Amino acid sequence: MNWFAIGNIADIPLRGARCVKTPQGKIAVFRTAENEVFAIEDHCPHKGGPLSQGIVHAKAVTCPLHNWVISLETGTALGADEGAVKTIALKNDGGALFIALEDLMVAAE
Ligand code: FES
Repeated sequence: MNWFAIGNIADIPLRGARCVKTPQGKIAVFRTAENEVFAIEDHCPHKGGPLSQGIVHAKAVTCPLHNWVISLETGTALGADEGAVKTIALKNDGGALFIALEDLMVAAE
C-alpha cells in the first residue's frame, strides 16, 4: 500500500473538509467534531455533488446538492437513499495525515 502525505489535521477545520486532488480523482478528507478523520471519494453517489463542501455531523456528511447523507465510515448513503462512494484508508500519525492510494499500484501493473 502506498501512503501519500496530504498535510496536517490542523489544516482541516473541525466539522470541515478538504478536497485532495489525486491521480485517482478528488478525495474528500473530513475532520469530525470528535477529531476523527475520514477520507472518501469527493463525488456524491447521487449526482456527483462535491461532498467536501457538505455539512459534517457525527460521522456523516450531508451532500450540498440534494441533502443525501453519506456515512464517512462506510461511504454508504444513509436513510432511504441507496448508493455508496469508495472509502480511502487514512493514517493519522501524530497529526500528519496520509491516504492510501492502492489503485495506483494496480494501474501500474
Ligand atoms: S448529488 Fe449529492 S444528493 Fe444529489
